Amino acid sequence: MAASLLPTFASAALYQQKCFACHQAGGAGIPNVFPPLAGSEWVNGPAENLIRIQLRGLMGPITVKGKKYAQVMPPNATMTDKEIATILTYVRSNFGNKADAITADMVKKYRGEVGKPMLTVKDLIDPEKAKAAKKEAKPKKKEEPKKK
Ligand code: HEC
Repeated sequence: MAASLLPTFASAALYQQKCFACHQAGGAGIPNVFPPLAGSEWVNGPAENLIRIQLRGLMGPITVKGKKYAQVMPPNATMTDKEIATILTYVRSNFGNKADAITADMVKKYRGEVGKPMLTVKDLIDPEKAKAAKKEAKPKKKEEPKKK
């Protein structure tokens, strides 16, 4: 499962340092200003979206849990691959979220995007569509061995 093998202590401290100011305790966000991470379809959706948001930032309108936000999130590209993986895994397995862990190798794949213009929602994979596609593919997927 998604349970992180990384020390929760370090993850929580990173969240506190890098995300808390905007996304708040428990990933609740602030209505109309900072979208929630708790229960967000984006957080529980494709890993690629989350990694790229950290590397390039995100601006303009995005709908999260049925509410529209039109703000700017600056990139967090000064964090290492490991730190980004740790923080995203933490967010995806806390605040009531349940999504797979993100590894440093996954983050590394997108490093080349650093410095490109900020993302807008059009650059992201629609999490609802990804979910629908996953559901169709599900029955088989469960059995896949998870080895490195
Ligand atoms: C300076 C404030 C700020 C900080 C710090 C910040 N964010 Fe954001 N974040 C935002 C804003 C504002 C948006 C919405 C941007 C928009 O309107 O397009 C957002 C959107 C998001 C989204 C997509 C929408 C959602 O709510 O699911 C994710 C995921 C996210 N942030 C994760 C993080 C993580 C993880 C961190 C810490 C590493 C972080 N953010 C740090 C302000 C911030």
